[in-house]
Amino acid sequence: MAIRNLRYEGDEILKKKSREIEVIDDRIKELAEDMFDTMHKYDGLGLAGVQVGILKRIIVIDLYDDVSKFCLINPVIVEKSKETVEIEEGCLSYPNQFGKVVRSVKVKVKALDLDGKKVTLEAEGLLAQALQHEIDHLEGETFKEKILPGTFEYITPDDGQDKK
Ligand code: NI
Repeated sequence: MAIRNLRYEGDEILKKKSREIEVIDDRIKELAEDMFDTMHKYDGLGLAGVQVGILKRIIVIDLYDDVSKFCLINPVIVEKSKETVEIEEGCLSYPNQFGKVVRSVKVKVKALDLDGKKVTLEAEGLLAQALQHEIDHLEGETFKEKILPGTFEYITPDDGQDKK
């Protein structure tokens, strides 16, 4: 178990595209464990490799509901619903910042699991949102650029008050 250093807003790595993982070796498995530990330490719902400085196509998600906990390797969105929703997001690389973004309500994602087995996920709601957010990270895109005008909020952890 190890907590890795998070990369934050202003770090150029967050704008870079991640590379496909060709071999799921012990280093990748250790990275996945560390990413879960790091995400849990900061109470995140998802984390992409790039956020701990690794430009590889790996994401972890945990919605803390006992079923939605995954590590996905080389995830690809193969279908997304036309129906969209404007929904609030935050990101561990942008502490205390929130804003509404447009996401598809449903997505279908293909990926590999940590055993190299092909998996297909059909997700909606929060899980679909988390998958879109994390897969964006692999393309060097963040929620910050997608925030709808007038919806940005900075909330300090101390008082929970809006400090716009
Ligand atoms: Ni994020």
